[in-house]
Formats: sequence, structure tokens, C-alpha cells
Amino acid sequence: MTPFVAIARAARKSRATTGGSALFLRCMSNIPENTVYGGPKFQSPNQRVTLATLRQKHRRRNPITVVTAYDYPSAVHLDMAGIDICLVGDSAAMVVHGHDTTLPITLDEMLVHCRAVARGAKTPLLVGDLPFGSYESSSTQAVDTAVRILKEGGMDAIKLEGASPARISAAKAIVEAGIAVMGHVGLTPQAISVLGGFKPQGKNVASAVKVVETALALQEVGCFAVVLECVPAPVAAAATSALRVPTIGIGAGPFCSGQVLVYHDLLGMLQHPHHAKVTPKFCKQYAQVGDVVNKALLEYKKEVIEGSFPGPVHTPYKISPSDVSDFSKELEKLGLGKAASAAAEVAEKINKPEPLGGGSPSSD
Ligand code: KIV
Repeated sequence: MTPFVAIARAARKSRATTGGSALFLRCMSNIPENTVYGGPKFQSPNQRVTLATLRQKHRRRNPITVVTAYDYPSAVHLDMAGIDICLVGDSAAMVVHGHDTTLPITLDEMLVHCRAVARGAKTPLLVGDLPFGSYESSSTQAVDTAVRILKEGGMDAIKLEGASPARISAAKAIVEAGIAVMGHVGLTPQAISVLGGFKPQGKNVASAVKVVETALALQEVGCFAVVLECVPAPVAAAATSALRVPTIGIGAGPFCSGQVLVYHDLLGMLQHPHHAKVTPKFCKQYAQVGDVVNKALLEYKKEVIEGSFPGPVHTPYKISPSDVSDFSKELEKLGLGKAASAAAEVAEKINKPEPLGGGSPSSD
């Protein structure tokens, strides 16, 4: 099958399942809102969140909602909830890969997460984090990485941490390359080496002024929004007031233009019977999904062990009694007498009204 035929088939299938709208190509999420040529338009511009949507929300003082996602199912959930921005954060290193910091995740790993999310989230603006080690050496390296996040990851924009002069130059170069950039100041987890750990920022005058100044510097080179992580509320309020672009707070209080939380944190997905692993104290848990997951797994294990799963309802595939009999005869011919008896025995058992018993039939 040629790629064109495959795409056409996928389009037909998608239209059949989405009631006529060709939403399936959201994976090519970096298609511009207004195409400048007369070619096919795959997406409904009314449905996509773009920088124009965000600007409008910001102008109207409508809070912007941001949540992280790392895979297809989390992206679909964000999409269904109508979250404005889906951030494929390097927090994946911690909440998905189990590392203690965000430092170990690689660009290739981030690209896998980005692609899965791009397949699942049709409407939010997709922002991919530049991982540690992929953009610090030079502006050229930063642009190359940002290009990969859009081209190979299907993202609409990138986020980078920090606002040192080199980082500001990198953000400027990326914007000039035509890629929308979200800045990130305050606690920048990729810099824990120099910050001395996951420490809140802006807690003294010099540090508070630095938060506002660095956010302004990122705005000046064209960032469309700036994340403020773990800073006191008055500092976040000052930055929000000083900036023309939206601020997105995390552990920064309510006086920001929007809020972001990590998917697993807000769902209580790492809930452990005795402790909620790595959930930061600023995070509100809107559910205890971890408890639900633990309970379901324990129940599944118990039912498998006691033989009550799978019962008749979850044993859906049938074979007629005459086929079972012929099948048993074939097995006999093959010298598999015990297997023949097992098939006949089970066929007889399931035709009786009593529930299926535990354990597996005798094997050859
Ligand atoms: O990686 C991430 O999830 C982030 C958010 C916490 C802002 O950078």
C-alpha cells in the first residue's frame, strides 16, 4: 500500500468515526492555523488552541489551563477535558521513568512522548519541553533541538528553562527560526545543581527581582508565555502585572494568568497506601487514582488466583460441540490424547450452567 493510499484510508476511517471532521491529522499539529496556500486543510481552526486563542483569553482575563501529558491516553483525557495547553514536560523523567530528577531524560525519549501525545490531543496547543543537555551549548544546538521537537514530535511550540544571557539568546534564536517559545523561571528543575536542590525562588528581594526581570527578558525576545515555578504569590503577581504575555503558575499562587500541574500529581496517580510519592506540597490532588489502580490490581490478582476471573461473561469465543468433537479426534490422531480430553472436558463443563472453575485444564 502506498503512503497516500494509507493516508486516504485513515482519513476515511477517521471521518467515519468522528462524524465527518478530519481530526485524525492532529498529529501534524504544527500545521499553521491559516494556511497560506490553497491546499487541503486538515483541521478545524475553530477547535485548535493557538497563540491567537491564548492572546484572546489573556486579554479577556480568562485563566489559561495547562496540564502535562506524556502518552496517548493522558493526551486524550486532556483533550476531552478541554485543557488549553498540553505540556509534554521533562517531568516525564520523574513521573513516568521513575528518576529522582528531570535531568536524565533524553531528547529521543522526549520525542517518543511528544509523538504519542500529538496523536491523542486534537485541540490543545502542544508544547514540548527541551530536555537537559539538548540546548545549552549554543543557540544553534537549541534551534536544532526545537526543530526536532516540532518536526519529529508533532509539537506546536517548545518550552525551555532559565533566563541566563545564553538562554535568552537561545530563546531569541528559536523564535526567529519561527518556533513559539514558552519560558520558565523561578524554580527551574534542570538547574538543581546550581540551585542546590528543588528550592523555591524569589524568597528574598534580590531573588524576587530576578524572577520578574528574567520573565521580562524572556518576553522581550518573543516568548508567548512564561512559567513561574515555586515563587511566592506577591512575586508571581508582580511578574504577571509587569508582563504583557501570560504567566503560567505552578506553586506560585493564584495571581497568574494560568496554572499548570503535572498530570500524575493532580490525579494522585502515584498514591501509595502509606505515602504519596513525590507529590509536591503545592499540588492539589483532584483524585486518588493511585488508590483506584492499587485496588483494581489487587482484586484482579485475587480473582485470577481463586479462579473467578475469567468467568463465563469474559470467555466470549465459542466453538460448536460438533467442532469440539472433531477437534478432539484430530488431536487424538496427532497423539495428543490428554489435550483432546482437556478440550472435551472443558466443552462439557461450559455447556453446563455452573460457573467456570479455576485452574488450567491438564496439559500435555
Ligand atoms: O516538566 C514539567 O512538567 C514542567 C512543568 C512543571 C511546568 O516543566
